[in-house]
Amino acid sequence: MFLIGFAVAVVWFTNALLTERFTESTRNRAQVRMTLYTGNLISELKRSSIVPQLLARDPALIGALNSNDHKKTSQRLISYIDEIGAASLLLLDNSGRTVAASDRNDLGTNHRSDPYFINAIRSNGSVFTAFSGETGAISFFYARKMEYASSTIGVIVVEIDLKKFQSSWAGISDAVLVTDSEGKILLATEPAWRGMTEEEALALRSAPSAIARATQNTADWVSLTTSSSLLGAGVMRQEARIPFQGWKMTSFTTYASVRQRVNGVLALEIMGFAILLALTFYFLSRRAQVQSQFFQRESADLRQLNQKLQREIAEREKAEKSLEVAEQTLAQSSKLAALGEMSAAVSHELNQPLAAMKTYLAGARLLLRRKRPEEAVSSFQRIDDLIERMGAITKQLKSYARKAGDEFAPVDMRDAVNSALMMMEPQLKRRQVKITKNMPRESVLVMGDRLRIEQVIINLFRNALDATKTVDDPQVDILLAAGETALLTIRDNGAGIEDLDSLFEPFYTTKQAGDGVGLGLAISSGIVNDLGGRLTARNAAVGGAVFEVQIPILNIETEAAE
Ligand SMILES: Nc1ncnc2c1ncn2[C@@H]1O[C@H](COP(=O)(O)OP(=O)(O)OP(=O)(O)O)[C@@H](O)[C@H]1O
Ligand SMILES: [Mg+2]
Repeated sequence: MFLIGFAVAVVWFTNALLTERFTESTRNRAQVRMTLYTGNLISELKRSSIVPQLLARDPALIGALNSNDHKKTSQRLISYIDEIGAASLLLLDNSGRTVAASDRNDLGTNHRSDPYFINAIRSNGSVFTAFSGETGAISFFYARKMEYASSTIGVIVVEIDLKKFQSSWAGISDAVLVTDSEGKILLATEPAWRGMTEEEALALRSAPSAIARATQNTADWVSLTTSSSLLGAGVMRQEARIPFQGWKMTSFTTYASVRQRVNGVLALEIMGFAILLALTFYFLSRRAQVQSQFFQRESADLRQLNQKLQREIAEREKAEKSLEVAEQTLAQSSKLAALGEMSAAVSHELNQPLAAMKTYLAGARLLLRRKRPEEAVSSFQRIDDLIERMGAITKQLKSYARKAGDEFAPVDMRDAVNSALMMMEPQLKRRQVKITKNMPRESVLVMGDRLRIEQVIINLFRNALDATKTVDDPQVDILLAAGETALLTIRDNGAGIEDLDSLFEPFYTTKQAGDGVGLGLAISSGIVNDLGGRLTARNAAVGGAVFEVQIPILNIETEAAE
């Protein structure tokens, strides 16, 4: 589209430019031609103007006139005519009668009333006269009177041949005319024009037809500015002065040649653009083809990719399904595992009360044997308490599925520590262990399950007792502090912890089979985590192990808010 627009613009512009250029050059050439034509005309006139002057002095002619013997005069004139190059020569006597002539047909004709005779008689020098005779054809004459002894004896007349120029002026694209001072056409390349004014002449026959060009009426699709609108379209009029008696030369030049040349260039140009356009279309279609090939290839790639993706999705779906199955299996097995863990934990936790019960029973039997039943009754009361406790522990097994925290209540950590120590009484009685207990005066409240907190303390305390078995001065310190959290520290002076990393793993133990199964710490850390706290272990710098239980403290405000 752009190319077409550009082509039109270029063609239009070239047309305008070339038309102007060629018009200019055509005009210049026409001017040059006119200068040449007027030069020729002038030189012809000048040359001919001398002829009468020379012939007027010719003694042979004078003698002939005086003697009125003209036998040889015509012969003489004929001999001159070739040298002079004039159309014809006439010798007239005093009365205007032709006494001698280069054309013998003229002999005897009378020219008394002809203007050139009258003018010559009246004037002293050579006189120029343009004269149209009866036929209407214009002839040009130089005439001069001939004198002998200061009286006029005759007139010599030289007819100048200017008509020969007309034919030489008639070019392919020119029409030329010469007018006299009154505007009458003297010479013209178009014979019909002669004798008329320019206006009449053009009315009779327009310049283009005069130039005999058929191009006049062809559709001139560019309007050319013509010098004279009278002349019709496509003709350029130029005028030049001839320095002779006010004569003027006018030339008409058609633009036909201009048009032709411009059209030639334009045709070339248009052809060039057509080729360019064709090439552009070719390349555009080539590109479109390449592009469509590219798209085809790309879409094929995309299809492949799509298929691959679909395959992948199917695989994923399959994998997901098998994963689901696996998860279900896992959930079941993990439930079973948890059940197993829980039953292990419960049986583990039952060991302590059972051991205590055994001790109390033995004590009660002894008391009954010594007949001290009142004291035995209190032992039985203890055993009863322990049975209740065991019942509570086994209840955990039933409700293990329930979420931790369901039965949480505020627990004073001091009470939990005291009650745990009471549970340990039988073992403590058997050994000499120094126990220090350091607790705040105010209650240290945490949210939780009292029984389970006691289990934690019992497990830690039992471990501490076990660890101090081989020591000379066994000592266990119990420290309770309330800060951001309730911090319970149980420290012993045993050998310290061997492997801190696997300490909390279930079934990790360094003890003899029967002495320990390695569940105490695993269960305890699980319980503390459930309460939102932390159970940590480390070896003290002075030796022995340090276990710390941290449980979030229960503020009264928080409780109220809850
Ligand atoms: N106070 C301590 N000093 C030194 N080592 C300890 C202490 N407490 C625990 N350990 C180490 O951690 C191990 C695991 O303790 P954990 O209480 O989990 O199991 P256990 O005491 O061996 O058996 P049980 O299941 O009867 O408690 C112990 O075998 C012991 O090696
Ligand atoms: Mg233990």
